[in-house]
Amino acid sequence: MVYKVCIVGISGLLGQYMTQHCLDRGYEVVGVCREESVHKLDRFKGNVTVYPGNTNDREIVRKAVKDCNGVLTVLMPWGVQQYSSTTAQAVLDFAEPEARLIFSCGWHISKDKQDQYSWGFLMFLSAFGWIGKLFGIAELSDQVTACDNIFASNKKWTVVRGSDLEEGESQGLPAWSRHVQDPILASNITRRIDFALFMVEALKCDGLIHEAPAIVSCRAPSACAQKN
Ligand SMILES: NC(=O)c1ccc[n+]([C@@H]2O[C@H](COP(=O)([O-])OP(=O)(O)OC[C@H]3O[C@@H](n4cnc5c(N)ncnc54)[C@H](OP(=O)(O)O)[C@@H]3O)[C@@H](O)[C@H]2O)c1
Repeated sequence: MVYKVCIVGISGLLGQYMTQHCLDRGYEVVGVCREESVHKLDRFKGNVTVYPGNTNDREIVRKAVKDCNGVLTVLMPWGVQQYSSTTAQAVLDFAEPEARLIFSCGWHISKDKQDQYSWGFLMFLSAFGWIGKLFGIAELSDQVTACDNIFASNKKWTVVRGSDLEEGESQGLPAWSRHVQDPILASNITRRIDFALFMVEALKCDGLIHEAPAIVSCRAPSACAQKN
């Protein structure tokens, strides 16, 4: 039987990379994206089924995740209408009981609150959170709520926490750690294509169930230093 994956937020950069990785593996791909963004998927026409609509539309998510073995969700904190938490809740509520659920976010999410952040990182987060909310652009705290709800769920979830991102050819599967202060993560850089690769590989990695790996490029200096 063909392995079926739903990508919630399929039209973004991460979503498109994940689509390609899934098609390369012979998976059937369905996805959800905003109506005005469907054209971004033109190069996949005929190979993916798209459900146009907001990724926090529960009815659309319900239809899209039906019969899927895995769901890859791009969690974004856009706007101030609990976009992340409603998206995550719809996936948790409607995905098949045994489906693997992989969610994306950043290092600012902490599963066990044991992550230690630099002063600069905390200042950036605080400024982004405050300005984003003031101007109604983004609600970082809602991404935190979304992830806390995921962490409390009994479903087979993994929350992948991305470092700073850059474009470029794949460098291979990123290295990861449970806590951001681990020296292996010090370089704080990953190619977006490899963030997507990690998300897709996580679908079939039972060792990552109920983990929140913070990732870094396997070729970043901090990751190479750990190998030597
Ligand atoms: N950017 C970074 O440096 C960084 C660092 C660490 C972790 N991350 C994580 O990586 C993931 C992907 O982030 P990305 O920056 O690479 O973005 P991305 O893949 O380009 O995805 C952006 C997503 O947000 C949607 N979006 C944009 N504007 C929106 C709006 N006004 N209302 C609703 N949806 C909107 C896009 O949909 P459309 O296609 O419809 O516009 C798309 O699905 C996220 O989970 C993020 O938390 C990012």
